[in-house]
Amino acid sequence: MDSFEFNKMAGAVLGTLLFVMGLGIFSDALFATHRPAKPGYDLPAAEEAKAGAPAAAATSEPLPVLLAKADAKKGENLIKACATCHTFDAGGSVKPTGPNLYGVVNRKIGSTGYGYSDSMKGHGGNWDYESLNKFITNPKGFVANTKMSYAGEKDPAKRADIIAYLRSLASSPAPLPNP
Ligand code: HEC
Repeated sequence: MDSFEFNKMAGAVLGTLLFVMGLGIFSDALFATHRPAKPGYDLPAAEEAKAGAPAAAATSEPLPVLLAKADAKKGENLIKACATCHTFDAGGSVKPTGPNLYGVVNRKIGSTGYGYSDSMKGHGGNWDYESLNKFITNPKGFVANTKMSYAGEKDPAKRADIIAYLRSLASSPAPLPNP
């Protein structure tokens, strides 16, 4: 083959290479595959399972369902974590560390003789089951700047047991919500 023929072939090969490379760059630009900093999905079930929480209770059971099968006796054990700061008996003394919690269900928020934080005093509303559940999950998430320095109980079933016990601290306990 003469050199002209060879140049033509070399040109064709080079051209093809360039084309393929160009295509690669072009398609990279078109279908940019940046990994998101956070995956666009989360798997709460898997995470809670890791934390050792009962998966069924941890994921989605609504509070009324959890309360219907809650155990106030277990709750009485669990509130030992609260008793360092709170008293639970009727007419119990107000510790300097926290308000008395007898009859707290449906009580006005921040309404005993205790020296509450301004954010608790100004919060408004009553301690219904939902607000107690939120507060015990994450006190600062429900009352920003509350001075209750308790990290929160993350297990929904345990929270329900605690709330069931709090509910029992009344001469006539409030009715349970309908599951
Ligand atoms: C380290 C002390 C401490 C612990 C532990 C603690 N609390 Fe408290 N709690 C407080 C203080 C202080 C307040 C008042 C907060 C404020 O005024 O912002 C409070 C307020 C509350 C209130 C609002 C009462 C009212 O009169 O409005 C509830 C309900 C409550 N705590 C429940 C609990 C439960 C249930 C636990 C255990 C799971 C718990 N607390 C653990 C210190 C504590």
